[in-house]
Amino acid sequence: MSVLPIRRLSNLLRSTRAAMMSRVARTYLQFHGATVGHCLRMSSLPICRRHPDATIAIGDHVSVANRTKENLAGLSHATVLVANRPGAKLIIGNHVGISGAILFCSQEIIVEDHVSIGASVKIYDTDFHSLSAADRRIGKRETILTAPVRLCEDVWLCSDVTVLKGVTVGARSIVAAGSVVTRDVPPDTLVAGIPARPIRSLGGDRK
Ligand SMILES: CC(C)(COP(=O)(O)OP(=O)(O)OC[C@H]1O[C@@H](n2cnc3c(N)ncnc32)[C@H](O)[C@@H]1OP(=O)(O)O)[C@@H](O)C(=O)NCCC(=O)NCCS
Repeated sequence: MSVLPIRRLSNLLRSTRAAMMSRVARTYLQFHGATVGHCLRMSSLPICRRHPDATIAIGDHVSVANRTKENLAGLSHATVLVANRPGAKLIIGNHVGISGAILFCSQEIIVEDHVSIGASVKIYDTDFHSLSAADRRIGKRETILTAPVRLCEDVWLCSDVTVLKGVTVGARSIVAAGSVVTRDVPPDTLVAGIPARPIRSLGGDRK
């Protein structure tokens, strides 16, 4: 028997399974109160947590990987989508790709269209704990620093990048693997390191 029909059958089964899993993932996200646009692509479930008065919105044509075999660049865990405080807004635009990343939002995280978020990236708009040891002891939340994060159009975060509170990454910029971004990144700029610093301009590559 020729291998061609077997390959076709196997491709058909794979695409049918992917379509079914995307529906299951959509239902899971909607169950958690997220809004989800058209053509979500997810072959397995992420982790989603939302405060009842927070927003998680996912745009059209968003692809999310959650298991190692879905992105061989090296996923160490499922994608995590959190909006854990009243009024928090986690907004993901259209044509965004996310691979086993953590988007932890206590105030506002906006991911604009065509952003690529690489394997095991972390995006935090909060420090999680107060800088004051006294406040940490008593679990006081009011002094925990939070500030909005924005990833502008066509940004690419390479694997293992961390983006901290208050950062805007300008359009078309690239953050190199393993970097920690603590300050704004201008548009069309490659940044790298801990803390991330500009390496070179990416100008001239406009769409
Ligand atoms: C350590 C931390 C709490 C300090 O917050 P902060 O006092 O607001 O610090 P700032 O953002 O003002 O940064 C102060 C300086 O330290 C640098 N810096 C901050 N975090 C850094 C990091 N992780 N690596 C290298 N440099 C860092 C900043 O670039 C800045 O230097 P600059 O002024 O030359 O640009 C914060 O940077 C951080 O790491 N937050 C994440 C906490 C976390 O991981 N929580 C997860 C669960 S425990």
